Amino acid sequence: MTEPKSKNIVWHQSTVTRAEREAISGHRGCTVWLTGLSGSGKSTVANLLEKALWERGVRSYVLDGDNVRHGLNKDLGFSPKDRTENIRRIGEVAALFTDAGVVNVTAFISPYRADRDLVRKVQAEGNFIEVYVKCDLDECEKRDPKGLYKKARAGEIPEFTGISAPYEAPDNAELVVDTTGQTPEQSLAVILRYLETKAYIPAV
Ligand code: ADX
Repeated sequence: MTEPKSKNIVWHQSTVTRAEREAISGHRGCTVWLTGLSGSGKSTVANLLEKALWERGVRSYVLDGDNVRHGLNKDLGFSPKDRTENIRRIGEVAALFTDAGVVNVTAFISPYRADRDLVRKVQAEGNFIEVYVKCDLDECEKRDPKGLYKKARAGEIPEFTGISAPYEAPDNAELVVDTTGQTPEQSLAVILRYLETKAYIPAV
């Protein structure tokens, strides 16, 4: 990881610790990092998960690709360099949410394995749960919820993931949910079970 540009900066320890925050909430903070093609179901699963957690009294929050690109990352496009910076910044934000004791769910294509490995390393071991939201390109293209594949095929969107830009599937994800063969609710159940089994959240 590169060193900060600034010199003469000192890390300040917060007065309230993460452990204290987690004790009051009754659950741990962690990042559930969803990765997959556009149209694979990341946002759908992320939002279902946020809601299901919230209903159990678990503090949860979704960071979504399209939304973050309206604000924090509005200066970034889709070149490999910009995607790397997109993911780097989100990785840092996700780490802050984890420190705040929140179960944060990220929904970014995050197509490069190296970028995902970097954001994993921002957090302490066990805080980062990579979930491959698996869906065939054919199926994503059939769904085409935003009509973007059609535009990409027509040459109207350059560097479109799966068409004219790569997607590197994870080979070390904690979880794989295959949205071709299962409903969003089934994917949700798999993730909730994992969070319960590993004691991130209390079992119900
Ligand atoms: S990432 O590759 O940098 O992780 P991110 O998840 O933030 O991508 O944004 C992806 C969303 O941007 C897609 O769901 C889609 O709606 C939109 N989008 C616009 N242009 C592109 C493109 N060239 N490639 C992929 N997605 C794009």
